[in-house]
Amino acid sequence: MQKLYEGKAKAVYTTSEEGVLVQRFKDSATAFNAEKKAEFGGKGELNNRIAGIVFRYLADRGIPSHYIETPNTRDMRIRAVEIIQIEVVARNIVAGSLSKRTGLDEGVRLSAPIVEFYYKDDDLGDPMITDDHIRILNLATEDELATLRRMALEINEHLIELWKKCGLDLVDFKLEFGRVDGKILLADEISPDTQRLWDADGNRMDKDVFRRDLADLVETYSRVHAQLIAAYPEYDFGTLPEAPAER
Ligand SMILES: Nc1ncnc2c1ncn2[C@@H]1O[C@H](COP(=O)(O)OP(=O)(O)O)[C@@H](O)[C@H]1O
Ligand SMILES: [Mg+2]
Repeated sequence: MQKLYEGKAKAVYTTSEEGVLVQRFKDSATAFNAEKKAEFGGKGELNNRIAGIVFRYLADRGIPSHYIETPNTRDMRIRAVEIIQIEVVARNIVAGSLSKRTGLDEGVRLSAPIVEFYYKDDDLGDPMITDDHIRILNLATEDELATLRRMALEINEHLIELWKKCGLDLVDFKLEFGRVDGKILLADEISPDTQRLWDADGNRMDKDVFRRDLADLVETYSRVHAQLIAAYPEYDFGTLPEAPAER
């Protein structure tokens, strides 16, 4: 297999099958546009398992994604898509950059969810963009943009339910989408790297523990995974084969 791309949290490989890729979850974590970096043994497997559970949960509720299957501890087989270079963020509670941008206190619950768009461009630092920016940059058509917004809000409703049953509050999350055969699929990953999850005591159960040095990342992600499979045992992968060392 050939490495197509190596990003901050995953590497993407081609397979012998046309239109199928493997994304391998790495043990590294980055924050603040990769200014802060560290390695965490076990993180890759936890995110692979959590993302696999979330994609299957969403598929059962009618959300199409690139997910195919989870062949081993670190790898996810996915459909190759043309990634839309927009990060779609949905928010239920004020946190992070929304607090900085608006002056609203972290923890304020929004009366209705909001959706934001960011330009997926590391060199620019993933800036927030408007519908007009998306049009002049040709990142997506107006129809596609409407679909992204609708899917993000639909996914939000499903994820709120999912995490509620785990005793966690869904604060916000980031999605990526791709095009294939004229369809739009949810892509990339949904994990504690890409969502903010707060427990009943207000503890951060996501990458904020690393961004803000609040707690041990692997312990935190392990707790999220344990709560997920306790609430949804039918989605637990159980024992998985060890990932091959080299792809
Ligand atoms: N189904 C897919 N087909 C092609 N590329 C994908 C797919 N799903 C995710 N990707 C891309 O693979 C990369 C995943 O690696 P990641 O470490 O998250 O990268 P980054 O550092 O750019 O965030 C991302 O660039 C993501 O857009
Ligand atoms: Mg990424």
